[in-house]
Amino acid sequence: MAKSWGEHLVDEEPRGRKFADFKSWLRGAVLLGATWLLLRNYIAPMPSATNSRCPQVEPLVLRSTKELEIMEDYLKSGTFKNKSIERLSGAVQIPTQSFDDLGAVGEDPRWDIFYSFASYLSKTFPILHATLQVEKINTHALLFTWPGTNPKLKPTVLMAHQDVVPVPDSTVAQWTHPPFSGFFDGKNIWGRGASDCKNQLIGILEAVEVLIEANFMPQRTVVLSFGFDEEISGQEGAHHLARFLLKRYGPHGVAVIVDEGAVNIESWGKNWAIPGVAEKGYVDVDVTVRMPGGHSSIPPEHNGIGVASELITLIEANPYEPSLDDENPYLSLLYCGAEHAPTFPKKLKHLLHKRSHQSSTCAKKNKDTLALEAAKAGPGIKYLFTTSMAVDVIHGGVKTNALPERTEFTVNHRINVGSSSKAVFHHITSLAGQVAEKYNLTLTPFNGTETPSSIMLSARDTLLEPAPVTPTSSSENRTSPFAVLAGTTRALYGEDLLVAPGIMTGNTDTRYYWDVSEHIFRYGPGWDKEQIGLGNIHTVDERVGVQGHVDTVRWMVGFLRGMDQAEL
Ligand SMILES: *[C@@H]1O[C@H](CO)[C@@H](O)[C@H](O)[C@H]1NC(C)=O
Ligand SMILES: *[C@@H]1O[C@H](CO)[C@@H](O)[C@H](O)[C@H]1NC(C)=O
Ligand SMILES: *[C@@H]1O[C@H](CO)[C@@H](O)[C@H](O)[C@H]1NC(C)=O
Ligand SMILES: *[C@@H]1O[C@H](CO)[C@@H](O)[C@H](O)[C@H]1NC(C)=O
Ligand SMILES: [Zn+2]
Repeated sequence: MAKSWGEHLVDEEPRGRKFADFKSWLRGAVLLGATWLLLRNYIAPMPSATNSRCPQVEPLVLRSTKELEIMEDYLKSGTFKNKSIERLSGAVQIPTQSFDDLGAVGEDPRWDIFYSFASYLSKTFPILHATLQVEKINTHALLFTWPGTNPKLKPTVLMAHQDVVPVPDSTVAQWTHPPFSGFFDGKNIWGRGASDCKNQLIGILEAVEVLIEANFMPQRTVVLSFGFDEEISGQEGAHHLARFLLKRYGPHGVAVIVDEGAVNIESWGKNWAIPGVAEKGYVDVDVTVRMPGGHSSIPPEHNGIGVASELITLIEANPYEPSLDDENPYLSLLYCGAEHAPTFPKKLKHLLHKRSHQSSTCAKKNKDTLALEAAKAGPGIKYLFTTSMAVDVIHGGVKTNALPERTEFTVNHRINVGSSSKAVFHHITSLAGQVAEKYNLTLTPFNGTETPSSIMLSARDTLLEPAPVTPTSSSENRTSPFAVLAGTTRALYGEDLLVAPGIMTGNTDTRYYWDVSEHIFRYGPGWDKEQIGLGNIHTVDERVGVQGHVDTVRWMVGFLRGMDQAEL
């Protein structure tokens, strides 16, 4: 077992662990009582300005003990940094790739790599494994439970996934350092999974391990929930874990969930933490054009491929308009920008002011001029508040001398907050209807039975409605999980960093957890100010800065302590 921080820093106390434990317990208890009285006013972080549309939470002040203080210093030390590099690098070296064509768990041997990963974790975090309850769900999903002393408090759940996107053989040569080397260049740890998201997974475990070593005893139960197939939809991992947690704690029986997600960004001359409080929905619509076959030497004016092409052209000519629902976190971010950011565009500010006097139903009835203006920032921004539509797959015809009887294509949609799959079905049905009418084809929209000479529409069962939006407002007298998250973040990075709700265009494993907690955040708290974007996730040269990683650990420690003292 490696030297623990306690052994390293408190070496003037070479007594048995038991005695040291007791002594610090006593010291902790006294300190705790005193700090409790002192800090009562700090434990419910409140927004500072009440009329603000973007109130900023004060940095969270944590109740502390001598041991926790020593721990905080240890987390800033070179010793910890080195240890942390070793742990994360080791995790990256285990190629836990999840392939699209994986067979059943227990049958396809490619899952077996997760046994190695679990044993690496138990070797690397012995104290955590000896202290927390460890359960394996559906063989490879890992569930750690650190029971709180007050069972009335709802648990905190921290999530991450063990799997990584595969590295295709054809791209291995393009990597600056081999993809499963975990190479450390003095600044970054390189490899697949380094930033998506073994950094988060290892960071969580490191945080819990040091808290145990500092004799932290949570009042609020802490749960770590690690799936193993997030990159291929989470059916085997997160799906089973969420069901298990729902059964154990009941609907919305969990106080807060933090999973991988948005990293801090710079915008309008300010730095922002934008934890994801919403996710767009998802639906793939299959379109099948059936038309009579026959010999291609006597063709009709239009065959199935031509008709399908016409429909595709019509789809592309009728994209969704940007629309900012009142619930859309991007609207809150705009208000935050207008209020706090020096280079926020004047025109947007003006439109926001107008918007603040009307509702989104009103904005929807007229053109959503605010959304249209905001969308000019580019597609990366526009699709935070616009349903996207892209024809991604097409098949048609089988032979050069035969007319195509079936032409099929698939339209991928990411559904805007405030919209629904129903609205998507309505839109594409109306477009397909126009083409069907023109060519005298039967339109069979969704759940219809297949008929000859028809355009048929169907939705795949990967359908996902937009996620429920996590509340971000603190009520007058009570704190909220969002306030704890924001207060933790500003305590770590300083008050120059603003916290605003964010939205994800993709989905994380939390898609299965909607009933487990109302308060779901997708946030990558490690902040590497020099890194642009997400650290090459899903592509060659994925890497993570070690400073950002250490900050992930410090954030996790702060958040767990913050949730533990929060009255909610
Ligand atoms: C950390 O590792 C580096 C490189 O191996 C070494 O030079 C340095 O002394 C180590 N720092 C500590 C505090 O152990
Ligand atoms: C349209 O198709 C129906 C049967 O599918 C046929 O009875 C009808 O004559 C067709 N109309 C035209 C204008 O081709
Ligand atoms: C199709 O049928 C399934 C179940 O039979 C139902 O859940 C779904 O909502 C239907 N889809 C549409 C678009 O009507
Ligand atoms: C907050 O506390 C004040 C004073 O104790 C009380 O008057 C008010 O109703 C409370 N507000 C809420 C939302 O509970
Ligand atoms: Zn991920």
